[in-house]
Amino acid sequence: MACNVNVVHQAAMASAIGQPNKPSQRPNASLSAPSNSKPKSCCKLLLSSQSSFISGFSPSRPQTLTPFRSSRAQNFPVVGSAKAEPLRIMISGAPASGKGTQCQLITQKYGLVHVAAGDLLRAEIASGSENGRRARECMEQGQLVPDEIVVMMVKERLLQPDSKEKGWLLDGYPRSSSQAIALKELGFKPDLFILLEVPEEILVERVVGRRLDPITGKIYHLKYSPPETQEIASRLTQRFDDTEEKVKLRLNTHHQNVEAVLSMYEDITIKVNGSVNKEDVFTQIDSALTQLLDKRQATSESLAA
Ligand code: AP5
Repeated sequence: MACNVNVVHQAAMASAIGQPNKPSQRPNASLSAPSNSKPKSCCKLLLSSQSSFISGFSPSRPQTLTPFRSSRAQNFPVVGSAKAEPLRIMISGAPASGKGTQCQLITQKYGLVHVAAGDLLRAEIASGSENGRRARECMEQGQLVPDEIVVMMVKERLLQPDSKEKGWLLDGYPRSSSQAIALKELGFKPDLFILLEVPEEILVERVVGRRLDPITGKIYHLKYSPPETQEIASRLTQRFDDTEEKVKLRLNTHHQNVEAVLSMYEDITIKVNGSVNKEDVFTQIDSALTQLLDKRQATSESLAA
């Protein structure tokens, strides 16, 4: 079975286009994906269509946002809509860059629905399904799980009523241009793309020290975020792919794909310094989200006036 190595899983994706809902472990599962096999031209199409979606965007003046490392006001693109729509945020970064940790903090404050591709895959593995078995094989090798499995799972979760009502925080998806294109084809457009930047030497230490609480879902680190009590410490678990050997494979996969994904969202990207403590990382993200909401509010008030 092939994993997505440097992903453009066109054959599988193309076979899924236009197919009616297929029987699967998840009812009503269906895939829709682009037929275009040239990601770069698709990228141009995406940015061009976003120009009408995001007010203030100028194709002649690309709005790549500067790294968000100061308290100075940043110029975020504003979604031009008169009605208040829920936020749709993507968060990306290398393995152990702190995506899950920040998602816990973001959802606590903003009430978004956290949709984590890795968590969906681990749930599929735990269900004992064939898709789960295939996913685990890829994850063991630090490679991407094929699009026909991942796209379907993410799509289904984003279509749930809570994601539509409260907004979503998409974690670890897309990880390739083909996944980004599939999401756009399905009609899901993010307002902001957060990239956590962490030097590689820190990532390995974070991975091997990570522990998870199976009861609360909270993420710990033996050194940086130790469990509060002995009772919690005694029940912590470790992920099967959290070894030094496997994280190096995951990092290679990340490097192979990250630029292609970033190029799809450069006009709505903020780069966040993820190497400081988790509270300071959250402060940067919180400021960006607050500004986004403030600008939306101002836009909707001026449209209503
Ligand atoms: P996934 O589960 O998404 O793993 P990942 O991307 O490698 O990211 P992690 O979950 O390891 O780390 P994180 O960034 O969430 O960091 P965390 O907050 O936990 O994916 C696993 C696999 O599934 C992939 O390898 C792939 O095979 C497959 N997959 C997933 N998505 C896919 C997709 N879209 N397509 C195809 N395949 C897909 O933090 C890590 C540790 O650091 C913790 O211990 C934490 O306490 C600590 N920490 C966090 N922040 C800080 C801080 N600021 N300072 C100090 N310590 C910190």
